[in-house]
Amino acid sequence: MGNRVAPCSEIFQQIAQQLAEVGYSVIEDALPESVSQALYQRALSLPSDEFKRAGIGRNHSLKIDDSYRTDEIYWLDSDDEAELAYLSLMDQLRLDINRLLYMGLFDYEAHFAHYAPGSFYKRHLDAFQGNTNRVVTTVFYLNPEWHEQEGGAINLYESRQSEIPFKTVFPQMGTLVVFLSDQFPHEVLQAQRDRYSIAGWFRVKATGVMVDPPR
Ligand code: OGA
Ligand code: MN
Repeated sequence: MGNRVAPCSEIFQQIAQQLAEVGYSVIEDALPESVSQALYQRALSLPSDEFKRAGIGRNHSLKIDDSYRTDEIYWLDSDDEAELAYLSLMDQLRLDINRLLYMGLFDYEAHFAHYAPGSFYKRHLDAFQGNTNRVVTTVFYLNPEWHEQEGGAINLYESRQSEIPFKTVFPQMGTLVVFLSDQFPHEVLQAQRDRYSIAGWFRVKATGVMVDPPR
């Protein structure tokens, strides 16, 4: 893996820099193509019953809500080579962010998400200010030759009050979006074709009451 990982460090430092300056970063072709391809193949090869409907809320109050989000998810772990490659790269990014921003990011969790045609995730925040251990969100896209007319964009909003997104990103293969989890409301618009992504969160150690969804 060594040779393939090295080229990322410049990109990761750039992401950390943008995170420090404006709180978010959008990078195309962020990871080695071999890694993106392996992850895409992995997402496609997972049996559809391995993908579970994503819920909202925490443990005991976890709810499936068809009006809020309709994607299906599968949590990554280190048993699969492609998943391990991704987790290793994100660990490298974690260290780069910590070095530059002193954020004390402690660990990372991530899931594949499959949005079947017509699926969506309504506007939400990934963390609630002062009451979370999810600090930085990553979303990596796995859709070769995505065309804008196919929909499926993620819209980022500056604040809770904003009505117009300041950033729209299409889920093109290799694009990585990174942002402060409690700063930017965002939504996933419906797409006309299957849409695959890996959503992940860097976390700090637990303090006080947690509101994050369970994994
Ligand atoms: C999420 C999320 C965005 C995307 O899973 O919390 O916002 O583009 N995903 O898949
Ligand atoms: Mn989100």
